[in-house]
This record gives sequence, C-alpha cells and structure tokens, in this order.
Amino acid sequence: MELRGRVVLITGASSGIGAATAKAIARRGGQVLLLARTQPALEAVAAEITVHGGTARVYPVDLTDLTMATQVARLIQTEVGTPDILINNAGAGRWLFVEETPPAEAVQMMAAPYFAAFFMTHAFLPAMRQRRRGQIINVTSIASYTVWPGATGYIAARWALRGFTEALRADLHGSGIEVTLVTAGKVRSPYWVHNPGAEERIPSLARWYPTLTPEQVAAAIVQGIERPRQEIVLPAAMRFSLLLYRLWPQPIRWLLRQTGWRQRL
Ligand SMILES: NC(=O)c1ccc[n+]([C@@H]2O[C@H](COP(=O)([O-])OP(=O)(O)OC[C@H]3O[C@@H](n4cnc5c(N)ncnc54)[C@H](OP(=O)(O)O)[C@@H]3O)[C@@H](O)[C@H]2O)c1
Repeated sequence: MELRGRVVLITGASSGIGAATAKAIARRGGQVLLLARTQPALEAVAAEITVHGGTARVYPVDLTDLTMATQVARLIQTEVGTPDILINNAGAGRWLFVEETPPAEAVQMMAAPYFAAFFMTHAFLPAMRQRRRGQIINVTSIASYTVWPGATGYIAARWALRGFTEALRADLHGSGIEVTLVTAGKVRSPYWVHNPGAEERIPSLARWYPTLTPEQVAAAIVQGIERPRQEIVLPAAMRFSLLLYRLWPQPIRWLLRQTGWRQRL
C-alpha cells in the first residue's frame, strides 16, 4: 500500500520501535496517530514529525483499560476517521519465573500487548471491513514462537499475540484486509530500561544474532506496508533459525534451555 495520505495508527508510539516507525511512516507522507500512556513523550515524537513537515496527532491512553481504549477509538473515529493501517506495537513485561511474578503483573503483561491489540482491532475492524481494505500489523518478539527459562508471563503473552494474529488472518481471508506479524530479535530500545532485569536473562545463544535498532525494525514495517506480507522476521539470520525451529523444535528448545537463565531455588 502506498503510504502517502494514509492514516496510520501506531500504539506504543512514545518510545523505541513505535516512535521510530511513526517517524519513518510520516517521512513517507503517512498521517500518524500516536498512542501510548506518556503524553510528553508522545508530544516530543509528534513535534519531531511536524518540524519535518509531517502530520501527527497524539492520543494519550492506557490501552490495557477497556473503557479508555474504547473512548480513544471513538475520539479517533470522530476526529480523523478509520485508520487505513493499525500497528499494534504497545507492549511491556519483565522477564520473571512464575514464583517471582506478582499475579497482577502477569495480568498486565497479557494486557499489553495482547488485550491492547485486541481492543484496538475490535474498535476499528467493522469500519475497515466495510471499506474492504486496510492492514493490521502486530509487532512481537521471537518469544512468540519459542521458549526459554525465566520469562514465563512475557512468553505466554507473546504466544497469545501470535495466536491472535494467525486467527485474525484466518477470519479476514478474502476481506481485503492484510494481517502482518512482525517478529524481531533483540532491539536496542528503551525496552530494556523499562523492564529491568530482562536483558541479563537473554539466552547466550541469542548473542549470535546482531542487535537491531528501532530504525531497522521501522524500515521493515514500512516495507511490509508497501509490499504486504503475512510475516516479517528480522534480523535475517533469525529467519533461518525459525525455519529450523519449525522443522526441528526439540534441539533448539534444548539449546535455549541450556544457554538460558538458571533459577536459583
Ligand atoms: N526491544 C526489543 O528487543 C523487542 C524485540 C521484539 C519485540 N519487541 C516488542 O516491540 C514492542 C515495542 O517495544 P520497544 O522495544 O519499542 O519498547 P519500549 O521502548 O519500552 O516501548 C514500548 C511502548 O509501549 C507503550 N506501552 C506500554 N504499555 C502500554 C499501555 N498500557 N498502554 C499504552 N501504551 C503502552 C510504551 O509507552 P508508555 O509507557 O508511554 O505507555 C512505549 O511506547 C513491544 O511490544 C516489545 O515487547 C521488543
């Protein structure tokens, strides 16, 4: 899809991948709607876009709250209309074993990314369907496919997001709406500061892959809009590993377990 003149809603746009994606899309002439909780950070992203001649609107919202998510979707519908492209990118979650995870935090981890993506999709899908065109892009981690120790709630939420994406794609077959899953390896973003303790739990096997920048993920998302695909996996080396994993899951699971974080009991 040509980006010029398109309305693109991006969740988690105050930081990291979402902010970089918003800027990349705005540079291509897309009108971006920026959603996240932190208003000053959203406004800083919007200011950078507008100073370069782009168009951005800011919608501060906690997307884990159904009432707030519904209200913001109504406001967007009234002020701007139905987005052409919905990018569900908001997400957080510390990497913890079950015994370390306060149950309320497990609920929150499931809520962003999974419920946040569900709420936004639910809000805009009827209008997108009527139009018979559009794209829904869900951003996730390689944790949507595989498992390693010490990140139980995070991994479960990522599997939920992939399950949602694949089920949605089946629902929307022939509707004119593309559904894309963007799967990234490690990205050097503020994620690791926002979710302390996660970085040290990355299995050492993962050091084989280059760390991405948010701008690289943003460029892949832009490409995935211009030439829609069902799946985008980056870095490139991870595509090969994922293929191996699909064919031969047990050895890769073993390696991730062996090189992963050990629980101190
Ligand atoms: N960093 C990585 O290595 C990596 C790799 C693969 C996938 N991912 C995934 O990519 C997405 C973006 O991550 P990132 O690396 O850019 O991390 P980040 O810099 O921490 O950005 C996360 C974004 O999500 C927003 N967010 C979190 N909870 C929210 C809520 N309840 N309501 C609304 N917005 C919320 C945050 O904004 P506010 O705090 O302002 O709400 C922020 O804009 C996440 O889903 C992450 O899990 C990250």
